[in-house]
Amino acid sequence: MKALILSGGKGTRLRPLTYTGAKQLVPVANKPILWYGIEAIVAAGITDIGIIISPETGEEIKNKTGNGDRFGASITYILQDKPAGLAHAVKIAQPFLGDSPFLMYLGDNLVESDLHLFIEDFKTRKLDALTLLCPVSNPSAFGVAKVDEQGRVLQLIEKPKVPPSNLALVGIYLFSSTVHNAIANIQPSARGELEITDAIQYLIDQPKQVEARQLTGWWLDTGKKDDLLEANRIILDTRLETSIEGEVDENSQVIGRVQIGSRSKIVNCTIRGPVTIGSNCHLENCFIGPYSSVADQVSLIDADLEHSVILEGAKVVGIQQRIVDSVIGQRAQLKVAPQRPKALRFLIGDDSQIELV
Ligand code: TTP
Repeated sequence: MKALILSGGKGTRLRPLTYTGAKQLVPVANKPILWYGIEAIVAAGITDIGIIISPETGEEIKNKTGNGDRFGASITYILQDKPAGLAHAVKIAQPFLGDSPFLMYLGDNLVESDLHLFIEDFKTRKLDALTLLCPVSNPSAFGVAKVDEQGRVLQLIEKPKVPPSNLALVGIYLFSSTVHNAIANIQPSARGELEITDAIQYLIDQPKQVEARQLTGWWLDTGKKDDLLEANRIILDTRLETSIEGEVDENSQVIGRVQIGSRSKIVNCTIRGPVTIGSNCHLENCFIGPYSSVADQVSLIDADLEHSVILEGAKVVGIQQRIVDSVIGQRAQLKVAPQRPKALRFLIGDDSQIELV
């Protein structure tokens, strides 16, 4: 069994962060989203992994993630010259996949469930496709499956106006090599993409063995800001372990589960976990509240923060109001003068959002 992780795409919903970097490398609890997927795949026993990359962000993903040694896996990078759809990504990966069955994983998805049982089920039942489903409150925003009592998939519908169920398609699929024939037989959709849902529908109509299983735990698609913050909250809540490597002075208070990386200095701060702070950071006169992730080389002075993600090299100085539900990009700077400011001066990137609430 091989795995194919899709880590190309446009990432329009996470702009402006995705103007300068891959969305799959945006950190959740200070680790790139993509790495959670790789780790889940390796934990399920698959070590031969192909990763689809785009010309814009592929080099960054390769440089950061490497050849797989750090995960105990072998990674092959596959360049997709344009984001022509999930099924298109499988098509160009065919030389890597060969005749092997494979697990397909969308590189911006996170799931709680262990993937091992789904793989076993797929193998023992000799299926052609197994899709994973998760109940959602707003099925019209997703691909939705109609499933019978035996778990057989009867129909897949993209963003249905009248959803046949509340079961959304999660970005994880298992396929036998028959999917390549299905992809060869489908046409691009109205939005010009080769859709994986069309390929699965083709298999259903053949009819081939297509079944679905429901995830037991949470599922997050981190493609948007609020989902990214939610992923950060859940990972900090469930997986963070205390470890303090940096220096915390005697005027600071560290409460609950907190991680502080090497060479970071914490001066006169209150840090209330779960919080993770990277290495080489400087924090002075700050309150850092629950569910915050601060990446390496960040400087926070006279600032209050909660439920937020601060990316590498960012600087926040003199913000007296609490910063909440925020994502601050790499090397971004937010400064307020110590005396009451008389003007606001901005250099804000395209598609940025600033709300003074
Ligand atoms: P999406 O989130 O559906 O698409 P996107 O990355 O273009 O994002 P947006 O809608 O914000 O513009 O893609 C899911 C995953 O699959 C994501 O990790 C990107 C990847 N992908 C590819 O690798 N190739 C593709 O052709 C497409 C459409 C997506």
